[in-house]
Amino acid sequence: MKRLMRTRYQLPRNICMAVTATCLGLACFAQTPSKNSLMPQPSKLTTLTGDLPVTDHLRISIQGPKDALLQNGAQRMIRRIERQTGLQLDQAENNDEGALIKIDVSDHTVRRPYEGVNESYTLDIHEGSARLHAATDFGALHGMETLLQLVQPNGGGYILPAVYIEDAPRFSWRGLLLDPGRHFLSVANILRTLDAMAVVKMNVLHLHLTEDQGFRIESNRFPKLQELGSEGQYYTQEEVKEIIEYATERGVRVVPEFDMPGHSTTWLIGYPELASAPGPYQVEHTNGVKNAAIDPTRESTYQFLDSFIGEMITLFPDEFIHIGGDESNGKDWLNNPAIMLFMHQHNMKTTGDLQAYFNERVQKILLKYHRRMVGWDEILQPDLSQEVVVQNWHGNEFLVNSARLGHLGILSGPYYLDHNYSAAEMYTADPVPSTNDLLAEQERRILGGEACMWGEQVDSYTVDSRIWPRTAAIAERFWSPASVRDTKDMYRRLAIMSRRLDALGVTHISNPQRGLRAISEGYPSALEVLSSVVQPVDFGERYKEQRTSPLTPMTNVIDFTVPDPLSRNEFAQSVAAYLQSSKRPGSSEHAADRALLERTFNAWAAAALDISVQSATNPRLKSIATRRSQLLQLASLGLQAMAHIESQETPADSWLTAQESLVRECAQPQELLDFVVLEPLRDLIRATSSRTTN
Ligand code: ACM
Repeated sequence: MKRLMRTRYQLPRNICMAVTATCLGLACFAQTPSKNSLMPQPSKLTTLTGDLPVTDHLRISIQGPKDALLQNGAQRMIRRIERQTGLQLDQAENNDEGALIKIDVSDHTVRRPYEGVNESYTLDIHEGSARLHAATDFGALHGMETLLQLVQPNGGGYILPAVYIEDAPRFSWRGLLLDPGRHFLSVANILRTLDAMAVVKMNVLHLHLTEDQGFRIESNRFPKLQELGSEGQYYTQEEVKEIIEYATERGVRVVPEFDMPGHSTTWLIGYPELASAPGPYQVEHTNGVKNAAIDPTRESTYQFLDSFIGEMITLFPDEFIHIGGDESNGKDWLNNPAIMLFMHQHNMKTTGDLQAYFNERVQKILLKYHRRMVGWDEILQPDLSQEVVVQNWHGNEFLVNSARLGHLGILSGPYYLDHNYSAAEMYTADPVPSTNDLLAEQERRILGGEACMWGEQVDSYTVDSRIWPRTAAIAERFWSPASVRDTKDMYRRLAIMSRRLDALGVTHISNPQRGLRAISEGYPSALEVLSSVVQPVDFGERYKEQRTSPLTPMTNVIDFTVPDPLSRNEFAQSVAAYLQSSKRPGSSEHAADRALLERTFNAWAAAALDISVQSATNPRLKSIATRRSQLLQLASLGLQAMAHIESQETPADSWLTAQESLVRECAQPQELLDFVVLEPLRDLIRATSSRTTN
């Protein structure tokens, strides 16, 4: 077998990184015109000449002792190559010397992922064969995902381009929070989320299991928790075991959150003796911060929690348990004379002091069970044990402060998916920004970050379209070197990734399509055009306009539009390209850019008219009457602006004023939808008058 010459491999690490960076977005494999579409980007990628053909004779074999976790991972990879290529691959035995792809792992004894486990791997693909090597099974699983992303068509067949990759995560905690507390999420939903997390090398699933709106886990010791607190929607212990096993097989840890002392209504329905007020309590059907709180002053509270946590640790093997601690407003404590007396006797001045006492007691219970406590940043009090991990959701300064005080920390504030930040905004937010003034040892305390998918405004059907594909960009921030930050290239790869994830089974593309098909009674194309230029309003605005509650149907147009649709970036790019090439009006490039943009505006106009016709008989379209008519006006704005640019005639001031006013009007919140195309339209308006004819 011909061994290929390595290009650049011998370079020192910093130079390699620079080479890697220049490769991004370019056709960087010497022989094959392939594109680097990996996401997350590996820490070191060297391109070689040649490739490994992917044919039905490709055999993939595990070297070394039998290892079911690795074997299952390899089987899944083979099935996915088959789905991707339509080929049927040959079966390989363990230690098959003739296999073209060999996988070997140094240490087969690590059976489940833990914080800080070695996740590194090397992938060496050259002409004729490939080797994937890792310290642990979990590194090998990441390497398999990289290998899968490298499979690509090459003329008549498929290949793996020759590359040498050395890869390891930048951060050890790369999480995603799911909130079945507000809207229950099916087990199938969680499993497909785990599949997608594995693709982008995320490794912590944080399950927010208890909320005012639902207690979602079965307890045998305290069955009234789920019986009275879940309205029948909870995970049985068997289902929890299934989720954890599925996660482990994909290198993902499951960290449960039992939110206390606030957000705790559903504990108190069956066990009112835990409560700080007389009750009675019932499952909440509204959102927002409630007064219900566990009573921290009674010894019986800690006996209960000891017993409950003692049961939960038999289910959740992870070292970390999240105790919430957020938004405990203290009102029910201040209204309870016995609690006030306790505070007085213990010299506690504020409810914050009482919560600090509660946290300390709960932490002792966790320590007894060899578990480490995680809590939201409200728990950060001067005496908080350094053992406790602080999860940021307020300003970044909380994370920085907690690292200074010696705590491990996780950044989440910038990654709240329900705030509908763009992928670019979240991609740019770094758990450890280069401008921070932490000492190196303090910086190391920042374990990573977590994307948070809160459940108030999503259900089991729509949740995927809020998580993906944006979370793939966040995953790259957590995995790849800090120097990987080219937003344009991120969007190029995100579009590819989005299709891959949907093909795998998450429904962020297919469910919105299905929803729009249902609303339009089978004629969705006009609504699809509208949904390409809007996104749902952010969490707070939707709450204000709609008073969303767990009972609000998540089946309206807003629910089938997506945050930061990829079309937003595509439109911005096509306007930028058009304006750029308009400096060369006669060029064929400009003719193409112009034709594309005109087609886009004509499609907007046609869609607006189509929706208008459909609205006459379809009551569900009435809710977007304003946005529909604005779409028509924006299409007209675009076409008129282009006509001015093409004719090189500066428009009248009255035209400019009218268009600017239209854009301002369109920027107002309306019908739960925000336009995402207004900035490029402003650029077009500006270009009509800033042009100089020469
Ligand atoms: C939170 O968003 N209440 C942690």
